[in-house]
Amino acid sequence: MTLEDFSDVTDDTDEGETESDSVSSADGGTAAGGAESDAVDNHSDNNTDDRDSFERIAADVAGDDTGMGALSVSQGLRVAEDDDETTLRAFITTGNREAVRIGKYLLVPYPDDETLFCRITGLEYAQEFHADDATEIHARRMMRQSTFEERDYKFMADLDPVAVLYEEYDDDGSVELNRRMTDRVPKPGAILRQATDSEQIKTGLNIPEEGVFLGHLSVGGETVETAAQPPTIDYRLTDDYEAGDPLVFRHTLVAGGTGSGKTHAAKNILRQYLSDERAYPMDDGRTVSPAVVQFDPQDEYAQMHDDNAELDDAFARKLDREGVAYGGVDDTIALIPTEDGTSYPGEGHRAEQIQFTVPFSMTKQRPWLVAGSSLNDNQYSGLQTLLNRFFRQYGKSGTYGQFTSFLDDPALKEELDESGRVHEATFDAIKRRVFGMPAGIFDQSAKPITELDHQLVRPGGLTVVPTYHLSSSRAKELCVLAVSAYLIDNKLSNAPASDRIKETPVVLGMDEAHNFLADADTVQARKVVQKFTEAAKQGRKERLGLFLITQDPQDIADPVFKQLNTKLVLNLGDEDAINSVNIPTNLQSKVPYMEKGQFVVYSPDNSEPVELIGLPTCLTRHD
Ligand SMILES: Nc1ncnc2c1ncn2[C@@H]1O[C@H](COP(=O)(O)OP(=O)(O)OP(=O)(O)O)[C@@H](O)[C@H]1O
Ligand SMILES: [Mg+2]
Repeated sequence: MTLEDFSDVTDDTDEGETESDSVSSADGGTAAGGAESDAVDNHSDNNTDDRDSFERIAADVAGDDTGMGALSVSQGLRVAEDDDETTLRAFITTGNREAVRIGKYLLVPYPDDETLFCRITGLEYAQEFHADDATEIHARRMMRQSTFEERDYKFMADLDPVAVLYEEYDDDGSVELNRRMTDRVPKPGAILRQATDSEQIKTGLNIPEEGVFLGHLSVGGETVETAAQPPTIDYRLTDDYEAGDPLVFRHTLVAGGTGSGKTHAAKNILRQYLSDERAYPMDDGRTVSPAVVQFDPQDEYAQMHDDNAELDDAFARKLDREGVAYGGVDDTIALIPTEDGTSYPGEGHRAEQIQFTVPFSMTKQRPWLVAGSSLNDNQYSGLQTLLNRFFRQYGKSGTYGQFTSFLDDPALKEELDESGRVHEATFDAIKRRVFGMPAGIFDQSAKPITELDHQLVRPGGLTVVPTYHLSSSRAKELCVLAVSAYLIDNKLSNAPASDRIKETPVVLGMDEAHNFLADADTVQARKVVQKFTEAAKQGRKERLGLFLITQDPQDIADPVFKQLNTKLVLNLGDEDAINSVNIPTNLQSKVPYMEKGQFVVYSPDNSEPVELIGLPTCLTRHD
């Protein structure tokens, strides 16, 4: 007689259901109805329409001693230094099976006061009895009933131990929850509970209490909820020197496909750097608010000057409670590159607008700016020779127009060729490149950027450099590279032309960063990548943080990429792109399933890798 025959004969379907119900309520288990409506209530004032569209997983509430199941020893119970040798499996009781999901956080107590904090990494139905369910009779029964007997099967969860939680007295004698590496094995039969206490979860995942708000902890697209008010768990990025380093100066990447919510997320994070309290100690002992300088290819960021009309009072109160900065940034300047024949419409925002131009004199220190992207080394050194000679002759204020006439002189070409300094063919190649530069960018009738350092960098202020209105991608590239080089050079220099830049913490944000920081075998690309890499390496010392936003992370040059410590990855479909962000595989596999505004965070010096949901409402205007 097979098992199926047995259950068929006894026809105990009803009994089975009663039993599983009673198990679940005795456990304080997943009382699905109640917890679900609670969760919805909690949210009704929180403007979380998009989140409510998910099938909600009932969230257990802290305080009820929920048991999900018990640790099983039958297939081994072992923690080891090497993750591959760790075996931690738990039997999940029938009433809890619907509620467990991969990625959820569980607690397993040790016999003393310590607790093992772990994460579900696998779920499996295993056979309880040796019976063959690949049979005609079984299949037909399933087709008739469309359910099966949960209790005929074992439901096993694989657990990944994250850390041991233990309590300790701190200096003022109060109890503090701490974490350490998993160094002991729990007892067979230990009861698992879902982690629902904010302090336990934050300690288990090593999430800082204080810092820059990035979003709310989630698992499988659902926010993790606790019984506390607010029920969500805020994820923050370390931002002070006592708790390590302000991670902003170890650089950030926001990667995500088109429309995944990069700009929305970036605005919300940049807004936190512009909050009134934000400030960093400088070497000279002063404490200075950071300036945010944002390169903006789509003309979206100057809107951060304005409030978001959709952010209502109820949401604002919630943000206040959670310590999240919001609202338009009054001190916003749109610093607008001028190009002959184009104009900046500037209709999408109410920020102050100041025009600037790129002076040709910037090429004196940075010849690569006129090299376009296609000069080889030999031509580049010829260009340097020509520029040196030009600036000697015309003075520091020599213009692009003067340089083109200078190159038009046949006598010069002949002289340089005869003296063996610049070969004739090389001269011609350089000349073609220089003449091929976008003509209307250098030396326009606006103030040179080099005289606008106090407008470019203002403690506590946001400067946006829009490039959408410029006529060509080369014109955009030239403006972005000129302004960012000016910033970086002043940050790195020991004798900076601008003390303002040197002495202000700067967050340098760049949307569509792959367009400017790509790896290419040209002098210009090499120089740019070198400069940004150097800047990134000196970021902590000089208080300079790169904040790169891109849909093509695979195109960002490796040396720069390696310096990016915090990675936020929104939905990415492209496999090369997913692989290139170089995050742990359990996060990587989630990336293609991220909905708008959901992302994973990999910031190894901040916390365990986690999944987050960003705020559903932009904290400033974002049309
Ligand atoms: N967390 C979120 N909750 C709700 N809506 C969001 C969220 N994030 C983004 N959106 C909405 O999705 C749309 C696209 O977002 P966003 O402009 O940030 O995407 P993007 O990745 O920058 O797109 P692009 O590739 O065009 O630059 C916007 O209308 C935005 O309001
Ligand atoms: Mg965008």
